[in-house]
Amino acid sequence: MAISTQSLVDTESGLVDRRLFVDGEVYEQELERIFARCWLYLAHESQIPNPGDFVSAYMGEDPILVVRDSRGQIGAFLNTCRHRGMRVCRADEGNAAAFTCTYHGWTYGNDGKLVGVPGYKEYYYEELDMERWGLVPVAQVESYKGLIFGTFDPQAPSLTEYLGDMAYYLDILLDRREGGTEVIGGVQKWTMKCNWKFAADNFAGDAYHVPVSHISAHKVGSLAGEGEPRPDPLRFERLSANGGNGHGILLILNRGEGLSLAGGGLLGNYMTSIATEAQGRLGPQRSRLATSANTVFPNFSLLAPLNTIRVWHPRGPDRAEVWAWCIVDKAAPAEVKEAMRVNYLRSFSMAGMFEQDDGENWNECTKTSQGLLARRYPFNYQMGRGRERHDEEYPGSLAPNVNEHNQRGFYGRWAQLMGEETGAGVDGLAERLQSHC
Ligand code: FES
Ligand SMILES: [Fe+2]
Repeated sequence: MAISTQSLVDTESGLVDRRLFVDGEVYEQELERIFARCWLYLAHESQIPNPGDFVSAYMGEDPILVVRDSRGQIGAFLNTCRHRGMRVCRADEGNAAAFTCTYHGWTYGNDGKLVGVPGYKEYYYEELDMERWGLVPVAQVESYKGLIFGTFDPQAPSLTEYLGDMAYYLDILLDRREGGTEVIGGVQKWTMKCNWKFAADNFAGDAYHVPVSHISAHKVGSLAGEGEPRPDPLRFERLSANGGNGHGILLILNRGEGLSLAGGGLLGNYMTSIATEAQGRLGPQRSRLATSANTVFPNFSLLAPLNTIRVWHPRGPDRAEVWAWCIVDKAAPAEVKEAMRVNYLRSFSMAGMFEQDDGENWNECTKTSQGLLARRYPFNYQMGRGRERHDEEYPGSLAPNVNEHNQRGFYGRWAQLMGEETGAGVDGLAERLQSHC
């Protein structure tokens, strides 16, 4: 019996029930209605540039293998053997023409097809229909400017439609330079004792916590450029944009004369040096914007100034596994890429100073909400209700950056999806596979 989520989220009054963050039934329904249906981030194209390159990923709790096959096509498959379920690829990344299961030796091509079965003649008497026992494919896989996403729903709208207004803001990082972006330095993974939504909601629009939670990290000057002279802050307008479909962005709008918002230092000077190119690519209005934290609904977040992208993988109502990468302009000089990598590591990696602050908050918010009495009291998302505005120059609805309209948009979309049956799309995937067997 599905849970009625209408009673859990009230965006009009700005109330969100704590069961969203601790309840096992809510979590199971999320896996089906959010994670089996939405477009989820899988990998960056720069991680698999050559035929046969692969990386591992997750969609919800399902392990995924993302592969560029020998013909150069990008595909994604459930990383589980069709025989007894062993993980067919146990490496994080690499290059392979085929994947041989280490349990009984079934072998799959890098296009997912079953190409080898030990004992096919002797034990299966050539009666196994190998065409029907390939790896389970992710229903749709598409890239947006280097970012590869997948959905299990064959009837999901296109990725471009799903991103909607969010794409306009993503381009500020992804398309500011010729050649786009690349991921460097591998992936960092860690587990937090928190519900995944605390992290996604924070990156979607929580500018409120920054001067409180991160004051000590700021005071010790842990960021590159800290202490360097900065342009006049009065030129900046700090905004948040609700990008629709649950997506949220924090922004800085440059209202001054100069092109760049950047301060000094190696990274500040780099941003100033690319400002003219960025203006040419992004246009005069958009090049006046800098994005900070963003969340692409449901669980993919970016932090452009600190060069990190990450996925908040769900691991139960009270666990999240973070996968984080460093993203840089492909055309940036080597010393700039290295400075970006170090800046990311010091601030928002597993051991990053800002990351510690956030994780501590989210873990405690989850823990306290497990209490019998505490969980009966909803969270307050009422800040700045009715202060949203539309600006004809920029898509989405805008508000001051310290405002919770992005989070109301996030939970509104969550409740909408949780209240809908998955329908023929996701259910159809299982039916199609059963009809094969
Ligand atoms: S589980 Fe993979 S071959 Fe048996
Ligand atoms: Fe934070």
